[in-house]
Amino acid sequence: MQRKIGVLTGGGDCPGLNAGIRAVAKSAIQRGFDVLGIRDGWKGLLDNETIVLDRDNTSGIIDRGGTILGTSRVSPLKIENGPRKVFDAVARLGLEALVVLGGEGTLSVSSKLFRMGLPVVGIPKTIDNDVAETNFTIGFQTAVQIATDALDRLRSTAASHHRVMLLEVMGRNAGWIATYAGMANGAEAILVPEIPMDNARLEELYSMLMRRYRRGVNFSIIVVAEGTMLEGKKFEAPSPATAISEPARLGGIASVLGSLIQSKTDLETRVSSLGYIQRGGTPVAYDRSLATGFGVKATETIESKTYGVMTAIKGNRIVTVPLSDVEDKIKTLNLNIYRVAEVFFG
Ligand code: F6P
Repeated sequence: MQRKIGVLTGGGDCPGLNAGIRAVAKSAIQRGFDVLGIRDGWKGLLDNETIVLDRDNTSGIIDRGGTILGTSRVSPLKIENGPRKVFDAVARLGLEALVVLGGEGTLSVSSKLFRMGLPVVGIPKTIDNDVAETNFTIGFQTAVQIATDALDRLRSTAASHHRVMLLEVMGRNAGWIATYAGMANGAEAILVPEIPMDNARLEELYSMLMRRYRRGVNFSIIVVAEGTMLEGKKFEAPSPATAISEPARLGGIASVLGSLIQSKTDLETRVSSLGYIQRGGTPVAYDRSLATGFGVKATETIESKTYGVMTAIKGNRIVTVPLSDVEDKIKTLNLNIYRVAEVFFG
């Protein structure tokens, strides 16, 4: 019987997903599998929305942002008889295994479904880089580059107007993007969810900005991750009500902090938020190669009938790790990296 696998992308999109889909499809076809693309994440599996992937329709997509399959935040674990429906769909479609490109949420669902019997291999993707057991996730390096470019642009206008400029970047639970982009830009301060901004830290920030000003350096760049706590609270973005309300949309800390800075220091302050711009568009070379390596590793793993694992990068080696080690875990920022960026604050 012809061997067949399915591939889906779940959760928020990110640059490099198409490179991953292409790698899974082409390497699986080379190994003799047929490949079915599932549309819009788990939703497509439940709704029977699929597309046959071949060498032609997966060509010319390595540099395209987003996901040609579409994505959604639908979780079969939150739907009545969801797991049963997933198993029925996999049997109906004749899939030997499923490759799931997802972030922490989608991979945790995969891990739970694996324990119920689903033959699944995960591939980590998210601009947030907060999936456990892998140094990097697909999409992270592109988001860092976009945020760095934005910060560089803010620096020139900050210098011209002698302003304090704040940029809010994504990162609901972890400050990876803020720290890497802030370090690359030489930001004067980086605020991350791992280090809550209490009163003492706020006072330190105001003093640092004032000291700079007194030294005659009359511009400053501050990067703020959306999930940073300010005086004990996270900020939720006002957003239109949607059918899927989880996770809550974060956003708004930079404008609250910007007003505080302006009123406490009297320095002219402006705020920008990068929002979804950092999730769109062409992936950088690193994300394309990472996605390619992960895709090939995933099909190699399926060939050897090993399931319940996720591809990961450790050092410069692509390996697999048990999905259970990733389940319901967040990889917060490595504070040693933050300490390096911190050397250049102020
Ligand atoms: O992709 C991860 C992430 O960008 C988070 O940093 C952000 O909070 C969240 O997704 C928002 O995504 P959406 O509005 O698509 O649910």
